[in-house]
Amino acid sequence: MTSVSIPRRMKGVQIKNFGDAEVLQYKTDLPVGVPGHGEVLVKNEFIGINYVDVYWRRGMMGIPPNGIIGREAEGTVVSTGAGDVNSLKVGDRVVWLAMGGYAEYTIVPASLAYPVPADIKPGVAAAALLQGLFAMSLSHKIVQVKEGNWALVHAAAGGVGLWLCQLLKALGAKTIGTASTAEKMKLAVENGADYVINYEEEKDLVKTIEEVTGGYGVDVVYDGIGKDQTQNNVNVVAKHGTIVTYGAASGFPAPISHATLTAKNIRFVGPAESALMRNIGGGFEKWCAKLFDTIANDKINVVIHDTYSLSEIVRAHKDLEARKTTGKVLAKP
Ligand SMILES: NC(=O)c1ccc[n+]([C@@H]2O[C@H](COP(=O)([O-])OP(=O)(O)OC[C@H]3O[C@@H](n4cnc5c(N)ncnc54)[C@H](OP(=O)(O)O)[C@@H]3O)[C@@H](O)[C@H]2O)c1
Repeated sequence: MTSVSIPRRMKGVQIKNFGDAEVLQYKTDLPVGVPGHGEVLVKNEFIGINYVDVYWRRGMMGIPPNGIIGREAEGTVVSTGAGDVNSLKVGDRVVWLAMGGYAEYTIVPASLAYPVPADIKPGVAAAALLQGLFAMSLSHKIVQVKEGNWALVHAAAGGVGLWLCQLLKALGAKTIGTASTAEKMKLAVENGADYVINYEEEKDLVKTIEEVTGGYGVDVVYDGIGKDQTQNNVNVVAKHGTIVTYGAASGFPAPISHATLTAKNIRFVGPAESALMRNIGGGFEKWCAKLFDTIANDKINVVIHDTYSLSEIVRAHKDLEARKTTGKVLAKP
């Protein structure tokens, strides 16, 4: 077995209080843990930053273990715990989906670490895992989108948004994206959106979507924005359609009454990736294999906005919240 020297202290970001980006404290003396039964210790090289980290930081998701947030990273296994570790061994390059990613080292359940295929470029696995798996589950499982379906994707140039645009294109759906700038609109079109609307400038989003769809509306709405779009979503969804709300970048979505649902026989779904990843058909490994197969066959362009230093985590969060980013945000310890 290869032996790797593991320091006792590491760089990382800790939060002691919930709040704005300034609560993220960069430290260089956090303890490095020892993996327990069924766990591995990973030396992270690329850390995925997701909008959901903002909710954790604000205290909307619970208390992170050790005060360290971050749902995913890519790196190398440096130590394995006792018991079944899914055949992982020291030196394996993996990407993982668990908790505690804003650090140089993270202990993760071996069942949620997946070997990165050799043909995947460095950083791409960390950029793709959470947003890619989530977008795949939204388009293939939560709603099984069919050829010819109309889809509305809010924040189409964001991380999940660009994945959805590309996956929906591959499924033969017709996608209307929304975005806040001309640059973001262009990016959404380059990555599969058929139409894009600047929802900061468009006075009547509903009317425009009605015109684009010939009065039909959309079969599915994908919304990570929440409050600002709740009413528009109800108005544009077609009869028997589905509103999928999975985020609250503008605030929690307003309640939708039973009468509103029954008026058009619509479904309102609120999936969470933490539950999905454990329950998606075939499990985590099968979906990871599918994810990397999709990327390797050049079916998906994994757009990386920037790779920040972990010491610049406050700036990374501020940029994300100020809507300055597109695609994926990464950090390096
Ligand atoms: N439920 C789950 O398990 C799950 C899993 C993954 C992601 N999500 C959610 O999915 C959404 C997208 O995640 P992501 O990581 O891919 O982020 P992202 O889309 O890359 O970033 C958020 C985007 O939302 C748009 N936005 C609209 N109103 C906003 C506001 N008031 N404040 C901030 N941003 C606003 C911005 O795009 P424009 O400038 O174009 O408006 C911004 O770039 C987030 O809400 C996230 O929490 C949920």
